[in-house]
Amino acid sequence: MGGVGSVRRWISCTLLIAAIFLSFDHQQACAAGAYGVCYGFIGDNLPSRAEVVQLYKSRNISAMRIYHPDPEALAALRGSGIALVLDVGGVDAIRALAGSAAAAAVWVEANVQAYYPDVLIRYVAVGNEVPAGDDAAGLILPAMRNVRAALAAAGLAGAVRVSTAVRMDVITDSFPPSRGVFSASAGRHMPPVARFLADTGAPLLANVYPYFAYRDNPRDIALAYATFQPGAAAVRDGGSGLAYTNLFAAMVDAIHAALEKAGAPGVGVVVSESGWPSAGGFAATVENARRYNQGLIDQAYRGTPKRPGVLETYVFAMFNENQKPGDPTERNFGLFYPNKQPVYPIIFPN
Ligand SMILES: *[C@@H]1O[C@H](CO)[C@@H](O)[C@H](O)[C@H]1NC(C)=O
Repeated sequence: MGGVGSVRRWISCTLLIAAIFLSFDHQQACAAGAYGVCYGFIGDNLPSRAEVVQLYKSRNISAMRIYHPDPEALAALRGSGIALVLDVGGVDAIRALAGSAAAAAVWVEANVQAYYPDVLIRYVAVGNEVPAGDDAAGLILPAMRNVRAALAAAGLAGAVRVSTAVRMDVITDSFPPSRGVFSASAGRHMPPVARFLADTGAPLLANVYPYFAYRDNPRDIALAYATFQPGAAAVRDGGSGLAYTNLFAAMVDAIHAALEKAGAPGVGVVVSESGWPSAGGFAATVENARRYNQGLIDQAYRGTPKRPGVLETYVFAMFNENQKPGDPTERNFGLFYPNKQPVYPIIFPN
């Protein structure tokens, strides 16, 4: 069923990438995958991996992010045609991959070669929101290099890109967007990461949450501007001359500006997480979450004022995860309840 289809899709994707390479920006390949949804497993009441893959397919969701190489999820994805962002996992995994080229080769063999192209692994994410000041931050680039070398040895360096997923706090001075620059604490490790991404044709993965910006500063940020609603006054960026009608696009363009200043103007951004909670805290309502996430999906097809076009974007998250620690909002980011019913209606374009 899926095998031939996915190979065909892979071939057409590859041709499209080749064509776009010749024009400008390969990371915009395959507009069909403009958006995806992050699939977290931190709940004791979630459907089986196979049911979840079916739910993605039945809802037109053609891309997924998972946070570690879960063998059951990878098996369920075989032949599904769903593109995948595959995280290596936490600090222990990063440390092992940074420490030895052989460990990276074993990892790539077990988690990429064993599945690709039956599972359309698009990116390997080395590290998710590792704090800039953390010891582990310094391990990210060595781990990325080892994974990239192992993929190259396996002939997969062109198909599977290696990146890392950062939090917005690697950027400082993000308003207006043209002032965006890597923060002092991220300033040591981010510019070399950016140059590695430029050299290898990979995008930077970024988790972008207007929700937290709004929650922390509702006096200066309009709810309409934070939730893609019409009627928000456009914010003009005097540095670039561009106008912004939503906070999300402004935040993403601040990352673009920081990449330029780090000497990596050709590196694109993939939004590896964004979302809005429907319950559990300030401004966390079903209506705000529906508006935000529908706006986010629609924005993925438009891109940002600085980089119009497709902005590959992953909504966080598929399910409300009842075992997530921390603030109650953390357990209410899902588009779906564990019983697979939608928390609110969303149109998933095809
Ligand atoms: C799937 O995409 C089509 C075409 O864009 C759309 O008409 C349909 O409503 C989508 N399905 C879902 C479940 O959102």
